[in-house]
Amino acid sequence: MALTDFDLVLFGGSGDLSMRKLLPAMYARDAANDLLAESRIICVGLEACSQQDFLRMVETNAKPHIKAAALTPQVWARFCARLVYVSLNATDAASYGALAAALRPDQALTRVYYLATPPQLFARICENLAANQLVTPGSRVVLEKPLGRDLASARRINAEVGKVFAESQIYRIDHYLGKETVQNLLALRFGNILFEPLWRREWISDVQITIAEKLGVGNRLGYYDASGALRDMLQNHLLQLLCIVAMEPPTSIAPDAVRDAKLQVLRSLKKFTPTTLVQDIVRGQYRAGHVDGVSVPGYRDEPDAPDRSRTETFVALKAEIDTWRWAGVPFYLRTGKRMADSLAEIVVRFKSIPSSIFAQPAAKSQANCLVIRLQPDEGLSMNLMAKTPGDGMHLKPAELELDFREQFSTPRMEAYERLLLDVLRGQLTLFMRGDELEAAWEWVAPILDHWENDHSTPQPYAAGSWGPAASGALLGRDGLHWREETLPED
Ligand code: BG6
Repeated sequence: MALTDFDLVLFGGSGDLSMRKLLPAMYARDAANDLLAESRIICVGLEACSQQDFLRMVETNAKPHIKAAALTPQVWARFCARLVYVSLNATDAASYGALAAALRPDQALTRVYYLATPPQLFARICENLAANQLVTPGSRVVLEKPLGRDLASARRINAEVGKVFAESQIYRIDHYLGKETVQNLLALRFGNILFEPLWRREWISDVQITIAEKLGVGNRLGYYDASGALRDMLQNHLLQLLCIVAMEPPTSIAPDAVRDAKLQVLRSLKKFTPTTLVQDIVRGQYRAGHVDGVSVPGYRDEPDAPDRSRTETFVALKAEIDTWRWAGVPFYLRTGKRMADSLAEIVVRFKSIPSSIFAQPAAKSQANCLVIRLQPDEGLSMNLMAKTPGDGMHLKPAELELDFREQFSTPRMEAYERLLLDVLRGQLTLFMRGDELEAAWEWVAPILDHWENDHSTPQPYAAGSWGPAASGALLGRDGLHWREETLPED
């Protein structure tokens, strides 16, 4: 469906995110004929750069990230004609004249300011936009992560951006919420009668949420070393997934209905105590190892990494949600770089059968398990006990499998495509509200403080493994295993 006319301003417009994700996403929507001919993308950067040089940069850095099937000379020419490069010093109010000149004055036009910049610049950019009268009633602002590095800085961002933009104009991005399967999780939970009655402590034994990456820190060491896995992945992506799994049915899909339900989960997370801070959290850092048979260096040997860095590249923890629905059900969250596999999945394990009518004892019956796969292959699988064919009554686990790609031939959308479309249409459901952001930081704050003050170092794990041994032990203590440990060997 075509969008109404817009001016989209990308601060950080010549940066990595714009080139790898944002411009390719906008190109894909252009190729799908969603954009009006007049709509423009104004890329703002600090460097002085001619329009021609900028287009060359887009050709070199963004074009390789566009799906080949969508690339045609006509669409490419049309897309390039929308791009305008503006050089500006974001902290200098006087330099916003060039941006003002590039924007169309029509007050009714959708105007989006996408801040793909370090968060320290958010406040200054908003102030300077306001000082230059560039904030129209139809303006929206998109905040890209990291949205702060602790509770205080997140509060500061909310307060400062809030001086210029109303909450209904602020789009805080978490790209995991734009992934197809995350929305499918909403469909699964609230579009079917089957799961809701079972979706509670009486029937669910535990939930595991994993985002594992084979990749290391690449060329983002500067950012990563100051952040670590907890800030980079857990405080945002993993907690958002946990919210979608655990929230009460919202009254509708309207932004505040969904965001209220998610906020309730965040506020019900059990606070860590001095004991659980030690017992229920594992932090790790990769050492040299092999990923897909290729030898890779350890984190501290990555170019520019501090020799004694204490930054975690892995974190696993046990969370509990103190509500009538979830009390006592452990939610294990885990993420890491240089892991054995690249995958993102949610595993919901149901309780075991209470007794067996078969000769086979109940303990030999595998508990039902629902796996929601976000990547690499989007899908759902559910294991059930089934009778093996032939004589006798022997039960074995069998899988029901729903592969979204096989089931639906409709073209896929990347997370950023969907989220940018939502911003341009003014749909806030898939974006975090300010109070959600603060509640998430509030919950992780004691972990950050604890790590800051204890002088321990993260536990080492070999690149290409599933993390430190303590991660397995975290579940082992509760008589459980991470899913990969329960899968049959290939
Ligand atoms: C980003 C993190 O938010 O998510 C990266 O900063 C991480 O460190 C990335 O690699 C993972 O996203 P995806 O969509 O590739 O799973």
